[in-house]
Amino acid sequence: MAEPQTIPIFKLVLVGDGGTGKTTFVKRHLTGEFEKKYMATLGVEVHPLDFTTNFGKIQFDVWDTAGQEKFGGLRDGYYINGQCGIIMFDVTSRITYKNVPNWHRDLTRVCENVPIVLCGNKVDVKERKVKAKTITFHRKKNLQYYDISAKSNYNFEKPFLWLARKLVGNPTLEFVAAPALLPPTTFVDEEEIKAHQAEMDEAMAQPLPGDDDDDDL
Ligand code: GTP
Repeated sequence: MAEPQTIPIFKLVLVGDGGTGKTTFVKRHLTGEFEKKYMATLGVEVHPLDFTTNFGKIQFDVWDTAGQEKFGGLRDGYYINGQCGIIMFDVTSRITYKNVPNWHRDLTRVCENVPIVLCGNKVDVKERKVKAKTITFHRKKNLQYYDISAKSNYNFEKPFLWLARKLVGNPTLEFVAAPALLPPTTFVDEEEIKAHQAEMDEAMAQPLPGDDDDDDL
């Protein structure tokens, strides 16, 4: 009989200000939501999100807080053994972007040199407050950035695909089957997304504003 296949599993630490949509995002993945485990000691929900790649299955154990981030930083136990991360902010709330460097500092203090994706959530909202040219933090710290909209599933898989490629060390890795997701409850406006992408590309072509770290946010 064939040996049971062992799936590579990676701990993914999900951080960002309260209300940015972390829980909404992680709950989109239906089997992950079904199989999640609550760790009472840390007040954390761990969602096992699996994806099918051209090299077989891969699983991210996504750690999501039960809102403790609103009461100061998270405990080290949340970060320990984290192998990758997502930092989320809300494009309709400037303060959540301003706090990104703090989340990055806390995460990288415990998890050194892990791949990290910065996600700007709620891009379905028309009154966007955090403009493309403001979003520069990822360039300073070598993170990947994606616009996402948890409620519309827009770019749901992108952060996971980028992280999977980094973790496996193979840029040719692809997702070959879409995971079952909750149906969208809102939609992104394609024209707006295109216009924003153009702004983003233009901003990327500009030199980074001063190197004096985070005070140009
Ligand atoms: P805590 O649970 O406090 O840790 O916050 P969180 O980061 O987990 O945010 P949560 O998922 O609770 O979402 C906060 C609010 O934002 C809720 O009212 C969501 O419905 C809303 N929200 C989340 N994602 C989106 C999105 O993509 N678009 C819009 N328009 N609203 C969203």
